[in-house]
Amino acid sequence: MNQIREEVCTRAPRQSGEGHRAVRVVADSAELALAGAAVLAATIHAAAPSDEIVVGLAGGSTPRAMYEVLASPASDGAGVPSAPPLPWPRIRILFGDERCVGPDHLDSNYRMAREALLDPLGVPPDRVHRMKGELGPADGVRDYDHVLAGLCRRDLDGLPVIDLLYLGMGDDGHTASLFPGTPAVRETVRLVTAGYNARLDSHRITMTPRLINGARLVVFLVAGASKADVLRRVLEEPGPADDLPSRVVRPTHGSVLWLVDRAAASRLAPSTIGG
Ligand code: 6PG
Repeated sequence: MNQIREEVCTRAPRQSGEGHRAVRVVADSAELALAGAAVLAATIHAAAPSDEIVVGLAGGSTPRAMYEVLASPASDGAGVPSAPPLPWPRIRILFGDERCVGPDHLDSNYRMAREALLDPLGVPPDRVHRMKGELGPADGVRDYDHVLAGLCRRDLDGLPVIDLLYLGMGDDGHTASLFPGTPAVRETVRLVTAGYNARLDSHRITMTPRLINGARLVVFLVAGASKADVLRRVLEEPGPADDLPSRVVRPTHGSVLWLVDRAAASRLAPSTIGG
């Protein structure tokens, strides 16, 4: 964990050009949860005590274990016992994407995060900005545009600053709700847009590549052998993001850290790992 803490604390986002990419392999999903939690702890420790930290949460199933680590009472989120709790009142929570369902629906990414992290920690509701899936794609996108407009910190490109954005990756290479062959993958102006998962006939609200790539640090959490081939293709084969939307994540000034377990990393070339 110290290595990750060291990386996050010492690697300042580059001022120009493509950001840095690193790939860290951990033993299993339990280690992935600890490593992912350690990044948040490191990000907070690296920030000035008065800074507000904007964190984007990932949906799907992989992040749940990490949220539970972060919510564990006696750790700084890195599974380190008796560390001081994270300063949640300084943290503003966004979501990378949401299904077009209500906040109590079983499919809601917000519901998963609320159960695993937000409620157990008593994170004040005014620090949490969920995507309102119940409004449907068009109104839900408009609503989140309004939420983002209310965030005060902007970067040099006028984008809302996201200090740390967690993302997952599907076995078809999608991330957030940027699905292969959909217009959302090619969105270059908007910050939020409608996503659509044809396989599940599921309408979504999603951060766009433009907003994602404005993040200072993007952390992918990828676990399981089912992701091994697509992970190899995303990390090792150049090609259109349309086919494998996770390819579109190349932070403009920030960095991307791929935290992957051994099973997902099983097809990666040794030269891909590290960085
Ligand atoms: C969603 C997520 C999605 C997820 C990937 C991986 O709403 O489903 O945002 O992008 O991160 O599908 O999901 P798993 O972690 O369940 O494999």
